[in-house]
Amino acid sequence: MTIAYPSNQSLQTPLTVSPPSGAPRPRLTFLGTGYLGATYAICFAEMGYDVLGFDIDEAKIAKLAAGEVPFHEPGLDELLRKNLGTGRLRFTTSYDEVADFGDVHFICVGTPQRADGLAADLSYVESAVTGLAQRLHRKALIVGKSTVPVGTAEWVEDMVRRLSPPEATVEVAWSPEFLQEGFAVEDVLRPNRVIFGVKSEWAQAMLYAAHKGVFDLAQTEDREVPIVVTDFATAELVKVAANAFLATKISFINAMAEVCEASGADVTQLARAIGYDPRIGNKFLRAGLGFGGACLPKDIRAFQARAQELGVGEALRFLHEVDLINIRRRQRVVQLAAELLERPNGPAGPDLSGLRIAVLGATFKPNSDDVRDSPALSVAGKLGRTGATVVVYDPEGLANAERELPDVHYAKTLSDAVSRADLVCVLTEWEEFRNADPVALAELAAGRRVIDARNCLDQAVWVRAGWVYRGMGRPALT
Ligand code: UGA
Repeated sequence: MTIAYPSNQSLQTPLTVSPPSGAPRPRLTFLGTGYLGATYAICFAEMGYDVLGFDIDEAKIAKLAAGEVPFHEPGLDELLRKNLGTGRLRFTTSYDEVADFGDVHFICVGTPQRADGLAADLSYVESAVTGLAQRLHRKALIVGKSTVPVGTAEWVEDMVRRLSPPEATVEVAWSPEFLQEGFAVEDVLRPNRVIFGVKSEWAQAMLYAAHKGVFDLAQTEDREVPIVVTDFATAELVKVAANAFLATKISFINAMAEVCEASGADVTQLARAIGYDPRIGNKFLRAGLGFGGACLPKDIRAFQARAQELGVGEALRFLHEVDLINIRRRQRVVQLAAELLERPNGPAGPDLSGLRIAVLGATFKPNSDDVRDSPALSVAGKLGRTGATVVVYDPEGLANAERELPDVHYAKTLSDAVSRADLVCVLTEWEEFRNADPVALAELAAGRRVIDARNCLDQAVWVRAGWVYRGMGRPALT
């Protein structure tokens, strides 16, 4: 029963549900104020909702309440301060306050990879739902946004049924999110689709009312936001399937990069050429160091683990290969470094002791300070283990990187990192690196060797400035 309809068409279900709190618009809470929940809380306040953000982390909540976003996301600081000022946005560490305030409660907590295997750790979901459900005293809708294994929504519904008072008839829905770090504000205000996994017309209408700001904004801009109304299992799968597809697309082009390396072809031209086919498309076809972050890597692993449990492990066996291709790219940079520095690549890896390597980029992608499962940081660690002196610079991720990988050196500026370096490795495609002047950097470096692990530099310009350049999946230009 999947129906898709544009935002400006009338719903099949009654649109006019009254929020149980008696407020004219549903009052929204977001449990978990990490990258996901904080962005949602702030953006929904911006759309005019009364919003309460919740986290068990007191320091995080104190920062947010003081107008400081605890992570780097372009545009979010301004929106936070603006909406705190309107009084529509507040933050708390009290479950009681959340239960008293909200009509629709969004669960936005993390679901990291479990320490003992590939599966997702659902303990944060469990504690958020438990903490909330037992304090609810009137009807409400609990909506899962966290990325979860299929079947979790049913489990949450069972928990809610057991813990909340029966007369409150609390309901559950699932509505996955698709925001990308670095573009999170835009992705929340202007999503390319919304998914409603629901079991009742009340839940569907309530979820619609909770997203009406998104549809109204779309209407003023003459856009449509497709809604897919579906069951719990499909809604949960939409998210993991989308991330599995994106990861597969990246690993596909990185597999092509391996073939290009062996055959002398250029993967950047190959990607451009196949991307012109609208059935393939040119997005997410950038070969390089592969995917990282808190989502794609752990999501494809948890998806495989869940498929195994469901007895369809074979169907997702290719995701194991996707993971392996992705991880292989990291070692390729070390191999290239050894080649460029003319040190033999022995069975225990190359010995690069006595050499200085500038690592440009620590975050898993630009415009973020997130270093979780960052390919750049992983390579910095590997280079450090070759005996080289590794000096890392990142425009936003230094504090997180230093905590995560304390045993390399960190520089405060790009120039400091490159000074006296025998090799420069560009591992995250920050604009600052793409626009850097290779002539000026050549004056600072001890050796003019550069590995462009994100294929983001202008090869010809760097070569003209005297650098020996190596990209990923590209022939060496002389
Ligand atoms: C990803 C998805 O893109 C979002 O839709 C999803 O909502 C989110 O995960 C999530 O599950 O919450 P994000 O982790 O912010 O978003 O990052 P992406 O933009 O997808 O990039 C992931 C990694 O792939 C980065 O390390 C990036 O450098 C790499 N990548 C991306 C490539 O190597 N090549 C490409 O062509 C594109």
